[in-house]
Amino acid sequence: YRITESHFVISAVGPDQYPEEPWPEVAMVGRSNVGKSSLINKICNRKNMARTSSKPGKTQTLNFYQINKDAHLVDLPGYGYANVPKSLKSTWGKMMERYLRDRQQLRGVLQLIDIRHSPTKDDVAMNEWLAHFGIATAVIITKADKISKGRYPQHVKEIRKTLNIAPHIPTIIFSAETGEGKEEVLELLDYLWHF
Ligand code: GTP
Ligand code: MG
Repeated sequence: YRITESHFVISAVGPDQYPEEPWPEVAMVGRSNVGKSSLINKICNRKNMARTSSKPGKTQTLNFYQINKDAHLVDLPGYGYANVPKSLKSTWGKMMERYLRDRQQLRGVLQLIDIRHSPTKDDVAMNEWLAHFGIATAVIITKADKISKGRYPQHVKEIRKTLNIAPHIPTIIFSAETGEGKEEVLELLDYLWHF
């Protein structure tokens, strides 16, 4: 599967602003700075379509991207960053919950986890919350270029154990820097969007 056409549609804070097309959607969740916006750019072969920053808290709204004129990717603001209130009672939480719980077009979520770190309480809570609402979730292990390949298995095992991922659920090791895992992410998106 290849993405040949992609562009930014709208930055939304509520349902009134969501795109009206009935196209299938996949959204990115994860801690601030984990690489959600960078992953979108990499798989779309774009340098700066989604805004990225070395400082956490860059993405603050729901950013919709049109893909191949028949699907959307949605970049969501990260959690776990001090300046972004993380409680689901907060404005951030309401915006996220309304989208994830109520959006008819949502076919799945990619949850991103930094390969270097064990998942946080926020990661575990988000994973459980997605499962509770019956949202198909895949785990993308990001920034793979930051550790040596020899250490992958140990880190993947720790992440799967902490998130309590069922054995049949795959994890994809990814790097926006080297493009490792890009083909697998594209196959997964094709599946989530079109089947
Ligand atoms: P928020 O919008 O704040 O929630 O962050 P985000 O998850 O969208 O992260 P973003 O894509 O902005 O990336 C954060 C920082 O990590 C940037 O400096 C990126 O260049 C860097 N980064 C992202 N992915 C990778 C990766 O795979 N490898 C390396 N080495 N750096 C990465
Ligand atoms: Mg971002």
